[in-house]
Amino acid sequence: MLALLLLAVVAALVQSDEETMKNLTKITWAHAVNNKTYLTAALASETSMLEADIVLGTLVGQDGPPIPIMAHPPATTSDLSLAEFLSTVKQYNNVNSKQKGVKLDFKSIEAYEKSQDLIAPYAKPEATFPLWLNADILPGPVEATTKPVDPIKFVQLGAKHPRAVLSIGWTTNYGGNITEGEYSRDQIGAMLRLVNEQKINQTVTFPVRAGLASNSQPVLLDLLRETASLNSSMTVWSSEGDNVEVDRLKALILTVGLERTYLDVPHDLAAKLQLPPADNVKN
Ligand SMILES: *[C@@H]1O[C@H](CO)[C@@H](O)[C@H](O)[C@H]1NC(C)=O
Ligand SMILES: *[C@@H]1O[C@H](CO)[C@@H](O)[C@H](O)[C@H]1NC(C)=O
Ligand SMILES: *[C@@H]1O[C@H](CO)[C@@H](O)[C@H](O)[C@H]1NC(C)=O
Ligand SMILES: *[C@@H]1O[C@H](CO)[C@@H](O)[C@H](O)[C@H]1NC(C)=O
Ligand SMILES: *[C@@H]1O[C@H](CO)[C@@H](O)[C@H](O)[C@H]1NC(C)=O
Repeated sequence: MLALLLLAVVAALVQSDEETMKNLTKITWAHAVNNKTYLTAALASETSMLEADIVLGTLVGQDGPPIPIMAHPPATTSDLSLAEFLSTVKQYNNVNSKQKGVKLDFKSIEAYEKSQDLIAPYAKPEATFPLWLNADILPGPVEATTKPVDPIKFVQLGAKHPRAVLSIGWTTNYGGNITEGEYSRDQIGAMLRLVNEQKINQTVTFPVRAGLASNSQPVLLDLLRETASLNSSMTVWSSEGDNVEVDRLKALILTVGLERTYLDVPHDLAAKLQLPPADNVKN
């Protein structure tokens, strides 16, 4: 009786994992997990992926040379180092069956270079929780002027962590009074060239800003088709207040497929999308 019950529980768990794999939009995100208080809260929550920013700086109240810390520019101090962030997540995952993943958003190539030895232990095959290495590595819409993170260095160092997902995107300039724009064929082509020239051979995801991506369906479909052998996906993100054509975004997501789309947007936008539910008839 107990054995049967256990079997049923295991079956249910396996099924829900399989469903998540087919519907990546179900995965939930916490943002800017850049301090101890919020890390504790995020680990205690149901959220499955923790997104956090890395810059070079110092721990509050400490001097010394800059180290990788969890902070968003322009901040250069934090109460949480990258080393402690990663070891805390690892400890959580060691004792919890439902693992939480991390998306490390590197704000400069210097921060990324100085983080290499800290990331390496978690990129080994023994570690199992999702590890994403993210940066804006190419200039993007609308004529963004933010300096991208060095693309070649970023992917070459990323190749040393083959278990990690490379999350590589474009700088953006959108929101406020900029309410229209798209990823151009040139911008998408530059990414594709980089993938090919650098012979990227690990899982990739392309973070794209919802309001811009919704106007870029043909070029994004090309990008995902050309990188299909890397199990590529797109990660749709949006800032609070961005202008987004909801119907067009929904069309993009359904065309790319729920099994290839991570969705990391504010709740109100996610709700407006009204993605179709799973077809339960087959069960
Ligand atoms: C910690 O991080 C969260 C999320 O980024 C933020 O809302 C909060 O203000 C931060 N707390 C401190 C003390 O910095
Ligand atoms: C857009 O807003 C910025 C500052 O928020 C302002 O400097 C700029 O002139 C505005 N541009 C237009 C076209 O309204
Ligand atoms: C890609 O990586 C896999 C292992 O992760 C390896 O078996 C394969 O040979 C690599 N392919 C190329 C073209 O380097
Ligand atoms: C893509 O997924 C397949 C099946 O899971 C795996 O064998 C292969 O190594 C993956 N390739 C990359 C580049 O992630
Ligand atoms: C996929 O997940 C989203 C978000 O939880 C949900 O709204 C949608 O109904 C799901 N669709 C399928 C086909 O599983």
